[in-house]
Amino acid sequence: MDNVLRLALLLVLLAKVYPSSCAYDFEHCKNAVKQWASSSLHSNSKDGHILKDLLFFLHVPRTGGQTYFYCFLKKLYSSALECPRSYDNLRFDPRKPNCRLLATHDDYSIMSKLPREKASVVTILRNPIDRVFSAYEFSIEVAARFLVHSNLTSAQTSGHLHLKKGVISTLEIWPWKYLVPWMMEELFARRDARKRKGPPYAYGNDSYNMEEIVVPLHEFINDPVALDIVHNGATFQVAGLTNNSYIWEAHEVRHCVMTYQTLGKYVLDVAKRRLDDMLYVGLTEDHRESATMFANLVGAQVISQLVASIPGTETINYNKSEQDSLFSKARFGTSHDQGNNTLAVEAQSEHMAVEKLTEAYENCISKLRSSQSKRRINSLRSIAPANFTKEARRHVPEALLKQITLLNSLDIELYKYAQEIFKRQRQLMEQKLLNSATRERWQMMHGKNYIGSAREIPCFFMFMFIFTVLFICYYVNAKRRTSKLKI
Ligand SMILES: *[C@@H]1O[C@H](CO)[C@@H](O)[C@H](O)[C@H]1NC(C)=O
Ligand SMILES: *[C@@H]1O[C@H](CO)[C@@H](O)[C@H](O)[C@H]1NC(C)=O
Ligand SMILES: *[C@@H]1O[C@H](CO)[C@@H](O)[C@H](O)[C@H]1NC(C)=O
Ligand SMILES: *[C@@H]1O[C@H](CO)[C@@H](O)[C@H](O)[C@H]1NC(C)=O
Ligand SMILES: *[C@@H]1O[C@H](CO)[C@@H](O)[C@H](O)[C@H]1NC(C)=O
Ligand SMILES: *[C@@H]1O[C@H](CO)[C@@H](O)[C@H](O)[C@H]1NC(C)=O
Repeated sequence: MDNVLRLALLLVLLAKVYPSSCAYDFEHCKNAVKQWASSSLHSNSKDGHILKDLLFFLHVPRTGGQTYFYCFLKKLYSSALECPRSYDNLRFDPRKPNCRLLATHDDYSIMSKLPREKASVVTILRNPIDRVFSAYEFSIEVAARFLVHSNLTSAQTSGHLHLKKGVISTLEIWPWKYLVPWMMEELFARRDARKRKGPPYAYGNDSYNMEEIVVPLHEFINDPVALDIVHNGATFQVAGLTNNSYIWEAHEVRHCVMTYQTLGKYVLDVAKRRLDDMLYVGLTEDHRESATMFANLVGAQVISQLVASIPGTETINYNKSEQDSLFSKARFGTSHDQGNNTLAVEAQSEHMAVEKLTEAYENCISKLRSSQSKRRINSLRSIAPANFTKEARRHVPEALLKQITLLNSLDIELYKYAQEIFKRQRQLMEQKLLNSATRERWQMMHGKNYIGSAREIPCFFMFMFIFTVLFICYYVNAKRRTSKLKI
């Protein structure tokens, strides 16, 4: 005890004498974090709901972002419009200046490499506890595929070979490039130990705690790697403070926040402001509604933007054959456009394009889901009897869930905030749909050649109002006249 006290005193003295030797003392950290926070908050939310030239999909791992990428974004943007190095370990390459879509697990700091005023950001958030479960299960699922190899060395050397050209391995993508090799080593070590020991095995019946086969969940969540890249991962990613950040000062700020939890509020604040400024925020849990919102609030704008950029735009390699079906209606609208009513013409056809987009999405997602689930079942077979089912999850002890909650307190706050944003987005979409319905009715009444601009709609309502009032007056008078006649 005495020794411990003396050691502590010595450390305190050392920290005083050599402040640089203890880079993460509280005052220093507080200043660093506050400075970072104030330099991170330059809001440009004035036109936050309008799609800019480049769409950055900030893909938080295990939020279901893959379905948005394959079933929305890939249907909207041809490969030629995709920024290079998406999802690549080689990171973003800004040499392709005309690209329109960037989708990666990179954190917000990549914005410092993009023309900020020209990029719109979208993201999806998920209940943090489910996200932790999913990160655990997915890293094991991917690692378990390597159990076909007889030993770890041969698994590791195979990991980077045998890839089809142009296909990026999960092993190259942050954060899996850390999580999967770790799980792989653990799976092989445990399998080797089982072989050495031989039966009988006492696995127990809790898949989340089968020490003889996989890293138990309680070990996973307390491991330094998980602390580094899993917990509060959404907040750090939106704040631009993951350990994959482009900004060197981010690493110091992150260590400070992890050391002194009271500093977390500054990070949370930055993350919230960033969400405020985003073009769209989806929620994994409200999947259907999130998808509808995405189609209407983002998809519709992407379509108008691409349609607008077709004629005579040499820099954009629009792949005609690939997207013909999706845009045929929209393009029909513009090609018949004479005069200056493009906005309304596009809005009309945009509505049809959004319907097509949603239809394509529904088709795509069911295929994607079924192939994902087949892959998962196949892979988990090799770690049987461990199996991550909904039923197994119900038996995870309450104390463990509480611990995950504590380790992810920033993400839990951020998720609550995202739910509020989601509500506002819903109102925005309803308003937008209402507006376009009114516009369509107006167009139907006045034929295709005359299309009113948005500014004329109030006049239209005024006109309808006066007309209705006059009609009622006329009707009441007429009725009065007839009733008088009866008397
Ligand atoms: C691992 O497996 C490969 C091929 O299955 C074999 O050639 C190699 O000798 C093995 N290595 C060890 C350390 O057992
Ligand atoms: C495992 O077995 C115990 C006792 O046999 C039971 O109470 C528990 O609910 C089981 N857990 C699971 C995940 O089936
Ligand atoms: C990020 O985290 C992983 C896992 O803990 C670690 O191996 C890696 O060195 C970290 N990278 C940086 C830049 O801190
Ligand atoms: C356009 O898409 C089609 C069908 O996907 C493909 O065969 C063709 O190579 C693409 N062309 C260009 C220029 O990308
Ligand atoms: C349409 O309006 C824009 C300005 O909003 C103007 O620059 C353009 O010349 C107009 N085009 C036609 C065909 O009237
Ligand atoms: C794991 O659970 C899934 C879903 O309940 C089931 O389809 C699958 O067969 C199970 N796998 C094993 C190896 O028991």
